[in-house]
Amino acid sequence: MSAYARAYHHSMSDPEGFWGEAAAAIEWTRRPTRILDREARPAPRWFANGELNTCYNAVDRHVEAGRGDQLALIHDSPLTGRTRRFTYTELRDDVARFAGALAGLGVSAGDRVLIYLPMVPEAAVAMLACARLGAIHSVVFGGFAARELAVRIDDARPVAVVAASCGVEPGRVVPYMPLVERALEQAEHTPDACVVLQREEQPAELTSGRDHDWEELAAAARPVGCTPVAATDPLYVLYTSGTTAKPKGVVRDNGGHAVALRWSMTAIYDTGPGEVFWAASDVGWVVGHSYIVYAPLLAGCTTVMYEGKPVGTPDAGAFWRVVDEHGVKTLFTAPTAFRAIKKEDPSASHLARYDLSRFSALFLAGERLDPDTYDWAAKVLDRPVIDHWWQTETGWPVAANPLGLEPLPIKPGSPTKPMPGWDVRILDDEGKEVAPGREGAVAVRLPLPPGALPTLWNDDDRFVDAYLSRYPGYYLTGDGGLIDQDGYLFIMGRIDDVLNVAGHRLSTGAMEAALGAHPAVAECAVIGVADDLKGEAPVGFVVLSDDAEVRDHTTLEQELVALVREEVGPVAAFKRVVVVDRLPKTRSGKILRRNMREIADGQHPAAPSTIEDPAVLEEVATALGGQSP
Ligand code: COA
Ligand code: AMP
Repeated sequence: MSAYARAYHHSMSDPEGFWGEAAAAIEWTRRPTRILDREARPAPRWFANGELNTCYNAVDRHVEAGRGDQLALIHDSPLTGRTRRFTYTELRDDVARFAGALAGLGVSAGDRVLIYLPMVPEAAVAMLACARLGAIHSVVFGGFAARELAVRIDDARPVAVVAASCGVEPGRVVPYMPLVERALEQAEHTPDACVVLQREEQPAELTSGRDHDWEELAAAARPVGCTPVAATDPLYVLYTSGTTAKPKGVVRDNGGHAVALRWSMTAIYDTGPGEVFWAASDVGWVVGHSYIVYAPLLAGCTTVMYEGKPVGTPDAGAFWRVVDEHGVKTLFTAPTAFRAIKKEDPSASHLARYDLSRFSALFLAGERLDPDTYDWAAKVLDRPVIDHWWQTETGWPVAANPLGLEPLPIKPGSPTKPMPGWDVRILDDEGKEVAPGREGAVAVRLPLPPGALPTLWNDDDRFVDAYLSRYPGYYLTGDGGLIDQDGYLFIMGRIDDVLNVAGHRLSTGAMEAALGAHPAVAECAVIGVADDLKGEAPVGFVVLSDDAEVRDHTTLEQELVALVREEVGPVAAFKRVVVVDRLPKTRSGKILRRNMREIADGQHPAAPSTIEDPAVLEEVATALGGQSP
């Protein structure tokens, strides 16, 4: 049996044995003896009687083991022209001091802290400081607007907010504090305090009595040690887009998360202590949580935090420069980044300027890896290009090519095979498994492995409803796909109304709520259409109310685009509105989004038997035809 097959089989036949062994790579203050509590509700729990501190495992532990002088984190910021390096000792000292500062503001174990920071080292420091105290962080991506921030503040009810004065995007500085102000005005919950990291690009005016300057607060604080917490205590809540406008608060626990992530660094990413790992994502997404901050540090690697873009900062050679300059062994990013590089530099001419001798593999995830992009990346890099598939909910890869266990033959278009712990099945509408090669809903048989979400924040019912009730005994991923004769998984895309724009997960519901707030809009639907660069791009279809006073459609469209940017955020990249007389619906009133998507992608779908009026599909096609994409 191959190493992969052996590990997979072990994890299925004896999950307690498999993950019990993996748990030995973590330092526990109380070693778990109960590996899997199958009786726990709403879902089984891992390492229930274990106790640990995640920050200790990610930082202090390496210092105590004599690796204090090794680089822990490199911040490379072409957007500001600065590079900063932190050894494990320096990171520990900064984290301990900032944890002391938070404790001084009244933050203690179990409290939530909302973090609204761009790609600066302080984001990792703040997250680890929370972990050190046993507090629960909730990081919000900088490209979201005030309303999204307000919704998260009301759901997480943080004791403190940690924000920066600004983020830096190409060609513009994004002031963060006005967004925080507006979010606090909109939110019902009021945090006790705000800590503001003043950036020289644009410092913020602080509100006395509420705001504290990061530097001053940290300078005056006493460093604190690590508070042990139960393995099942939450480490963080990360909000992700669901099908409704209200985001889902994905909970991650401490024990399962540490064990699974530590295991993945060796077995999947084949990257170990002292080696350099770079996830070119953002701390606001799950990739940033798992593979910029926690996993590389748990494994004693050097992690790279990049405040820049794949192109334009300054050119399409930016990624190769970072790989060369910091000796990156493993790079992880989204296919969109490679599409952007390929578009700008199709012959990869920039590569010749850099030394990539230490670079060994590229991992891509977050959205579908199209064959053209795969072929191009594999050709120009001449290294393994690994497509792997996972979600905010799963926390780490469900399907991948486990380079550290055994590299499996690559099938372009497939994220390879399920990783140990993930019992992936393809189900039909009745919940029956389909034959190999047939498409269906991608589901995972329970129990989920360590590191996967145990529930949604303060909402067990929604957790059960959204993920466990459709197919009893299974977790519903929301993706459609198939498993072929050789056991390779192929992901075909979401079967719900979640969009994926440039690897960013967005809710159609949130954009529809924004459009619906415009007085001229009676009804609307947002769908994702194929986009050459970003994979998918949102398009809003609006029906105007009878009494709408609309001067002209161009002005209306501009207002609607501005509204989504204002309410959801620039990251939605919402740029296109189509005015229609009616939306295609079933007789029961359900909007036929799939048909709309097919029309927008240039297909001619047959009208489903349930449609209220087949003529509406024609109307949609005509309305779209009148506009350039
Ligand atoms: N704070 C504020 N605004 C942000 C932001 C942040 N953290 N991140 C993005 N935005 C803004 C951008 O400035 C842009 O605004 P604009 O409409 O004024 O230009 C908008 O949100 C869309 O951003 P983005 O998706 O980055 O698109 P882009 O057109 O600026 O850049 C790419 C295109 C391909 C370079 C970019 O999408 C990219 O780097 N993608 C990689 C994907 C990725 O890392 N995904 C993470 C999941 S693994
Ligand atoms: P997120 O929760 O933001 O990580 O988004 C998860 C979703 O992104 C998945 O449900 C998929 O729809 C999509 N996705 C992630 N990785 C891949 C991949 N390798 N191939 C296809 N789709 C992917």
